[in-house]
Amino acid sequence: KTMPKKFLNPVEEGKLSGDMRELYDRILPTKDSDERRARFVQKLERILNQQWPGNDIKVHVFGSSGNMLCTNDSDVDICITTPLKILERVCLLANALADHGMERVVCVQHAKVPIVKFWDPELQLACDMNVNNTLALENTRMIKTYVEIDERVRPLAMIVKQWTKRRILNDAALGGTLSSYTWICLILNFLQTRNPPVLPSLHKKPHELRAGSDGRRAGFNDDLERFRGFGKPNTETLGELLFNFFRRYAYDLDYEKWVISVRDGRLISKEGKKWHLMQNNRLCVEEPFNTNRNLGNTADDTSFRGIHLEIRRAFDLVKEAKLANCLEQYEFPA
Ligand code: GTP
Ligand code: MG
Repeated sequence: KTMPKKFLNPVEEGKLSGDMRELYDRILPTKDSDERRARFVQKLERILNQQWPGNDIKVHVFGSSGNMLCTNDSDVDICITTPLKILERVCLLANALADHGMERVVCVQHAKVPIVKFWDPELQLACDMNVNNTLALENTRMIKTYVEIDERVRPLAMIVKQWTKRRILNDAALGGTLSSYTWICLILNFLQTRNPPVLPSLHKKPHELRAGSDGRRAGFNDDLERFRGFGKPNTETLGELLFNFFRRYAYDLDYEKWVISVRDGRLISKEGKKWHLMQNNRLCVEEPFNTNRNLGNTADDTSFRGIHLEIRRAFDLVKEAKLANCLEQYEFPA
């Protein structure tokens, strides 16, 4: 068996980095998209507080609209917080939203986290909304902090996300692949384990964790000013990082042995965590805020094999600096 290519030559590197820059500029959300998202939040706050006055309903954005990794066509993930417990029965919310002109309103009451899905025809936005499920606000803030530490994180993550969408590798619920959140954890851990690292582990050194604005201790160190520029000693370019990202997950990582841990900023032993006994444990990705959860368990053996083959395909194209081919839309076999 031949060893996978270790380096890009300078010509390939220049082409790949240049193409990545160009793609990144194209998929960055426009000012108009940002503005519609901001107006959408205000609009929802108005509608909901008008419908249930005096209940202090707040509208929070999470997911990609809050972590700087969205494109123009990303949905808006919304968490509303309110002491009015009855709204946790999301079908009530669904009715109110339909009354205010929202379309394609669907309430999913019996999910792990009940949500309402809908489309705003005025602002042209799709939305997933939950009530009082504030955990996702924290992981959104964590991702945003990582994105702001080093300027290479945003383009790299947006391009990898784009690739997962084109290759249909990002539907944990329907396709048995991985959520955007899981993919982002794979990217963050890759950047934490470069030598020298591009990112620190914000969950480490708990004695240094600061109290949040509400006096609660955050689960991770969110002192952005302290970490900004952390990755400076690492001089890899975007092209080199994309090449090495795919190389790591295509060939270098021993999936039998390791759990990917953003919390620890390294790989940890599967056996040590007793995860070698779990179901759907080919790909092990520790949930940074709940270390008992394996985010990779949405993929069974067959699905994992498919994902792994796709990563190898991506590596084989990126190593020839063929970014456009790498991102070609997957065509289902006839
Ligand atoms: P796109 O919508 O694909 O642009 O990315 P996204 O980051 O918004 O992902 P998605 O809409 O799938 O999920 C929204 C947010 O929900 C994520 O950013 C996480 O904060 C949270 N989330 C999604 N899946 C999980 C999960 O399995 N575990 C946890 N703890 N949070 C999740
Ligand atoms: Mg989203």
